[in-house]
Amino acid sequence: MRGGEHWAKYNDSQREREVRPLCAELIAMAGDGVGRDAIDLGCGAGIETRALLRAGWRVYAADGVPGTRERVLAATDESDPAWLTVQVTDLRALSDLPPADLIYAAYSLPYVGADHLYPV
Ligand SMILES: C[S@@+](CC[C@H](N)C(=O)[O-])C[C@H]1O[C@@H](n2cnc3c(N)ncnc32)[C@H](O)[C@@H]1O
Repeated sequence: MRGGEHWAKYNDSQREREVRPLCAELIAMAGDGVGRDAIDLGCGAGIETRALLRAGWRVYAADGVPGTRERVLAATDESDPAWLTVQVTDLRALSDLPPADLIYAAYSLPYVGADHLYPV
């Protein structure tokens, strides 16, 4: 994935921030996540992944930048790891996704490009 170093620095800088308001709103709108599956595409530092886990969702979190697994596990260490799948992958290489009740992607898809996402 291009820009790996840039995104690693960016994601490291995000560790202490609050959950993004749009994600908080989405979680509130979607209701109880218990027993349901969410996907966080381009999960970055894992802040929104953590918010989804806290709301009871099982989460599949994917991002292409090296170090993603460590970042997301550090952000979510309070959660049961059985509820979390972290995949380090270029989203352009994804040919399918697990079934999900909710798909969240913040500021990631524009960097992937619509043509590449079409199969997903
Ligand atoms: C602006 S950050 C947003 C991260 C997080 N969603 C947030 O809200 O802080 C963009 C994210 O998209 C990821 N990304 C960009 N292009 C990607 C690609 N082709 N495959 C996988 N991840 C990609 C970057 O690694 C980065 O974590």
